[in-house]
Amino acid sequence: MAKVVTVFGATGTQGGGVANALLEDPEFKVRIVTRSASSDKAKALQERGAEVIEGNFDDASSLERALQGAHGTFVMTQHSFEVPDSDQLEIKQLEDGTYELSLSKWRVDCCLGLTSPDFAMEGAAEHGVSVTDSGFAVRAIFQNRAEWLGRTVGFSAEKLTIQQHADILSKHLAPRVFKSTKMTSDAFSKLPFPGAKHLGDMFKFLRLGNPDYSPELTRQLYPGTRGLDQWVADNREALLNALSNSTT
Ligand SMILES: NC(=O)c1ccc[n+]([C@@H]2O[C@H](COP(=O)([O-])OP(=O)(O)OC[C@H]3O[C@@H](n4cnc5c(N)ncnc54)[C@H](OP(=O)(O)O)[C@@H]3O)[C@@H](O)[C@H]2O)c1
Repeated sequence: MAKVVTVFGATGTQGGGVANALLEDPEFKVRIVTRSASSDKAKALQERGAEVIEGNFDDASSLERALQGAHGTFVMTQHSFEVPDSDQLEIKQLEDGTYELSLSKWRVDCCLGLTSPDFAMEGAAEHGVSVTDSGFAVRAIFQNRAEWLGRTVGFSAEKLTIQQHADILSKHLAPRVFKSTKMTSDAFSKLPFPGAKHLGDMFKFLRLGNPDYSPELTRQLYPGTRGLDQWVADNREALLNALSNSTT
């Protein structure tokens, strides 16, 4: 019988990569949790075979339904800039097979994909990985659970500076030219939008804190993990379309 894996955030960017990878493997039955089962993204996943549970991190009983009988779960936590320390979801499986759930404080997130903004890194390099590829890396953990249980893996394809990002984009998307911005994390913190201070602190942490990401472990899990150069080449048309529809 297929093993049920509950995926939080499956209608979004990072959880979507995980749901996509698991749906391709008949060993697993994917159960997704969404606040709206009638959304287009939830329906599209259901059409591909996912079980859809309507639930919310704020509603412990819905989480219990979502986790009932699951072989494993992928949790994509949500951070609210209005409620600092909001997004650590703790799930403890109890001996009688039930779960204890609690929301406490900020947990280290995983920076995935080209969406990760690193323009306040002050020349330092930052790790990044495609969400498609990290989805397959997560799937490998579920496939080899005994080997990976209790270990921490910081997903990364490679570490690049913003100038290297710009050069790769300019190479593939010419005649468009991309340039590195020179903003400091302190200047970023003062920008007038909610969360600017938190993001500025995050850039500082990424620059000074030496977080533990591992391209080696990521490729051990998914040898097909692409660097940015290959990812941009593979997604050139989609990027050009997005840029031509962009107003900025
Ligand atoms: N993408 C990146 O590069 C990146 C980098 C660093 C950090 N992050 C952080 O990682 C988190 C997820 O990023 P993402 O890009 O994957 O986000 P996203 O594309 O906006 O997706 C968010 C997902 O979370 C679900 N969700 C939101 N609130 C929920 C709640 N209260 N209960 C249950 N599910 C809820 C949404 O499901 P429904 O709408 O269907 O309910 C959706 O599937 C965010 O906190 C983001 O700040 C992202």
